[in-house]
Amino acid sequence: MFDFDRVIERRNTHSSKWDNIAKLSGIEAGDAIPMWVADMDFAAPPGVTAALAAEVERATHGYYADTGSWAAALVEWMARRHGLQVDPGWVSQTPGIVSGLGLILQAMSAPGDEVVVFPPAYHAFRRIIVANDRRILDAQLTETQGRYAMDLDALRGKLSPRTKVVFLCSPHNPGGTVWTPQELRALAGFCAEHGLLLVSDEIHCDLVFDGKHTPTLTAAPEIADRLITCVAATKTFNLAGAHVGACITSNPELKRRLDARIQASGLGSYNGFGMIATEAAWRTGEAWLNALLPYLARSRDLFHARIEAAVPGARAMPLASTYLAWIDFSATGLAPEAVADRVKSRARIFASPGAQFGPGGDTWLRFNFATPRPILEEALARLEDAFADLRVAPLRRATSAS
Ligand SMILES: Cc1ncc(COP(=O)(O)O)c(C=O)c1O
Repeated sequence: MFDFDRVIERRNTHSSKWDNIAKLSGIEAGDAIPMWVADMDFAAPPGVTAALAAEVERATHGYYADTGSWAAALVEWMARRHGLQVDPGWVSQTPGIVSGLGLILQAMSAPGDEVVVFPPAYHAFRRIIVANDRRILDAQLTETQGRYAMDLDALRGKLSPRTKVVFLCSPHNPGGTVWTPQELRALAGFCAEHGLLLVSDEIHCDLVFDGKHTPTLTAAPEIADRLITCVAATKTFNLAGAHVGACITSNPELKRRLDARIQASGLGSYNGFGMIATEAAWRTGEAWLNALLPYLARSRDLFHARIEAAVPGARAMPLASTYLAWIDFSATGLAPEAVADRVKSRARIFASPGAQFGPGGDTWLRFNFATPRPILEEALARLEDAFADLRVAPLRRATSAS
């Protein structure tokens, strides 16, 4: 019903992922494969395309005002998929999650304040904190039994009077950890104990393969007053260019301050195409998402198995969510630069360097496998060739069948 194997040419379309490869990675080859930034190479749900086509057909593209149906679509989606009850009055619309994080920092903290992140963590957290003249407070994740864990005792010892905000990524990027209700409750309690604002970025919440996403608000309703949850349709339905996100808080004072920043930045008027696309996604995209998840899970399994076989010592972190394989090369005997060079120069693949995710990431690479299987197969074949000299016996390509 949905053809995720179909290859859509994205070169020369202003695609950041495809058209910025040479500029950002230095790979000049015309056949380079981008496995870095987190968007997918699949067509969006048909209902999204139809809604955008109808708008184009109408051909008048004036200012857009949400008369209520966009927020209602969001609320219904969160209730249906995640059992989360959101009042539409708690929702502030922002031009994406990262811009929302910046606006939150401006509204709720002062220059020089510290913001906790749990590295290795989504690199834009670091960027937006520094760009807003706030400081990063790293709370290093530990790894136990193939998943990340927060060490709140270690964090406690690092807090200062300037520590004001915590950025949580739930599910976690990179590594795909789906936090348990107990872990979320422990963090929530920690934030309450130390007077911290908790910002829960749940943009990957719909892309869970193993286990179940628990919204932080569900796990710890008792800290609703110090919680802002960020969600979007853009990651789930491949609409990142729509640049529409939502910040949700039931605390009227936090909402008032955030909305004031939104107004002060001239962002009170919305991107019409983005609103139409994201509302259509929530209203019509569920069957597409239900078909996408097993396709991605199969790609994940394929990628993990073949990269571990191709590179002696490489280790894939078991990925409970996200389409971003997180691979540790520390036991390969190769320096991180040597691994990066093989991937870049020999395989002509642009993967995200682990170091950009902060401390603990430098021996890792992150590979986005949300691409049609024919492209994924080509990428894997190139990776196998790029590390072939390290293997004792050559691989049989037949392992890639299906
Ligand atoms: C955890 C996380 N938050 C936010 C974003 C980006 O959100 P936006 O494009 O809405 O700014 C990403 C994209 O990869 C992400 O992984």
